Amino acid sequence: MAPDALEPAACAQEASPYQLEPLVITWFRGATVPTALLSQLLHLVETNMRRFGPTDTRRLLRQTTHPRQHLLLYLRGGSICAAASCRVCHEQRARVVYLYELQVVEAYRRRKIGAALLQQVEQFGRDEGAMGAMLTVNLANHAAIRFYSGCGFAVSPISPSACDPSRSECEYEIMQKVWDDATARELERRGERARKWLART
Ligand SMILES: CC(C)(COP(=O)(O)OP(=O)(O)OC[C@H]1O[C@@H](n2cnc3c(N)ncnc32)[C@H](O)[C@@H]1OP(=O)(O)O)[C@@H](O)C(=O)NCCC(=O)NCCS
Repeated sequence: MAPDALEPAACAQEASPYQLEPLVITWFRGATVPTALLSQLLHLVETNMRRFGPTDTRRLLRQTTHPRQHLLLYLRGGSICAAASCRVCHEQRARVVYLYELQVVEAYRRRKIGAALLQQVEQFGRDEGAMGAMLTVNLANHAAIRFYSGCGFAVSPISPSACDPSRSECEYEIMQKVWDDATARELERRGERARKWLART
């Protein structure tokens, strides 16, 4: 493990029947990710997301290396098999853990690795005082939407499709899993306010 990984750097989890070994996830702060791993991550995102258009590499690099970003990697023999990238931030004043990336190498899919990474991101959010988790997903990414729905996420009331269903031209959906009732209600109110405002314009 790299010396600059966060402490606790790795969390052993229960082996699932789908996996060949217990899943060990290594955490990095964005600013400390070794360059070799960064380029592997860029390649993974480009490969996985090609069918949705070209990857904005500069934006991805900026996000990933942000000092408040956290990167969770499932590594085998120094190679990234799966990765998640997240940050605790405020969305419509709600403190949430925002998932920026969740990527599993094709050969490692359907072994609950994505679900395990997501679970760790959620736990990290809870530990950091977040009231929920949020993410953005391409509307054409039906597999990912099914995956997130199965993991307890639902379309956020602040998602473009919820605020402006009649004429939404957005290609993405915002999904959320909120574990604080007051925050869920506040997001509902904000979505409703946006809906009313858009209906008037
Ligand atoms: C979406 C993704 C992260 C899922 O990771 P994964 O490790 O394969 O998912 P898991 O094995 O944890 O899946 C858990 C459950 O989610 C659902 N699921 C996962 N992939 C699915 C798919 N392609 N189609 C339908 N349901 C799916 C299933 O219910 C699955 O349980 P099952 O295998 O017992 O049926 C992975 O497919 C991936 O990296 N895709 C390409 C990159 C991407 O689209 N990332 C999301 C960007 S927002």
